[in-house]
Amino acid sequence: WKTLDQMDLNGKRVLTRVDINVPMKDGVVTDATRIERIKPTIDSIFAAGGTPVLLAHFDRPKGKVVPEMSLSHVAPKVEEVLGRKVTFVDALDADAVAAAESGSIVLIENTRFHPSEEKNDPVLAKEFAALGDIFCNDAFSAAHRAHASTEGLAHLLPACAGRNMEAELTALESALGQPERPVVAVVGGAKVSTKLDLLSNLIEKVDYLVIGGGMANTFLAAQGISVGKSLCEHDLTGTAKEIMDKASGAGCEIVLPEDVVVAWEFAANTKHETVANTACPEDAMILDAGLAAVQKIVSVFERSKTLIWNGPLGAFEIEPFDTATNAAAKAAAELTKQGKLVSIAGGGDTVSALNQAGAADDFTYISTAGGAFLEWMEGKTLPGVAALG
Ligand code: 3PG
Repeated sequence: WKTLDQMDLNGKRVLTRVDINVPMKDGVVTDATRIERIKPTIDSIFAAGGTPVLLAHFDRPKGKVVPEMSLSHVAPKVEEVLGRKVTFVDALDADAVAAAESGSIVLIENTRFHPSEEKNDPVLAKEFAALGDIFCNDAFSAAHRAHASTEGLAHLLPACAGRNMEAELTALESALGQPERPVVAVVGGAKVSTKLDLLSNLIEKVDYLVIGGGMANTFLAAQGISVGKSLCEHDLTGTAKEIMDKASGAGCEIVLPEDVVVAWEFAANTKHETVANTACPEDAMILDAGLAAVQKIVSVFERSKTLIWNGPLGAFEIEPFDTATNAAAKAAAELTKQGKLVSIAGGGDTVSALNQAGAADDFTYISTAGGAFLEWMEGKTLPGVAALG
């Protein structure tokens, strides 16, 4: 794929697909990271004499015009974070785009208000294409969607990747494409069922696979260990066993918690105990990894050169069951600071868990992607990236 540097942007309208699908509460943007990440692209376009015309989705309006999901609510934050005036255009109207004040960013209304966006309808892609001269895709986190504004448009205009897209792809390539070995992957979260493809792909690619969170219980149960009332997908213990067998054949060491923190109810600061993973009482549930487990994970980090992290190690949203996640995240951040580890994290809850641990800033790279990060880790082709050539 091409980058912005390989395109002649002077005097051109650069139709830029961004992901500014930011969390919002009571009309206030609660985390502007995704907006911050598009600044280098916007600055590069202006520096080269072009005008950015932003295409983006916001939430899931399912092809209907839902006023609360209008991008006009996000526009003020875009102005504030990018430090430039934003001209909001609520229709696919080339004249309105052309009339925008020079020096301002143009922001087009939510692409998902059009029912044909998610169908990747070429008619809609053409209407988008009429608003610009060049297509720049800077939305890695929406690249797993083959939509008119991500995949379709790339075939209609000269296309390139934006700076954020470049940064994401470069970071991910350094983690699983051509990584420095040994590589350790941390995969946590509640359910094995949502991460089967991910685990199968990773055991072929990494040297150590640390499994944490509720998922680990299914792997413990697969070894005949009783997990009491813990979250556990008992119907998947056979699959977990197969994954463990395949991993040992592929030279990938699976790391499961040797001790666990158990409690009798899912509540913050409730009575809890640390026990060996074989000693979970029948009426208790595992909510975190124990200290010995954390020490083992940290020693694996110390032996590794590259870390890729997706998902928390315990019920990190309630104290003190965030302890293992926090401790492991801090250790990874410290090794990264010392130049001993390349650390990359992304996907869903992961970024908030690392932020909560105060570790995110020291990681080598934090992806802004949720589903796209996971699909990429699963080894899938992302249509938005593939269409860039
Ligand atoms: C995300 O938040 O992960 C992206 O913006 C994609 O959103 P979606 O899952 O609604 O397609």
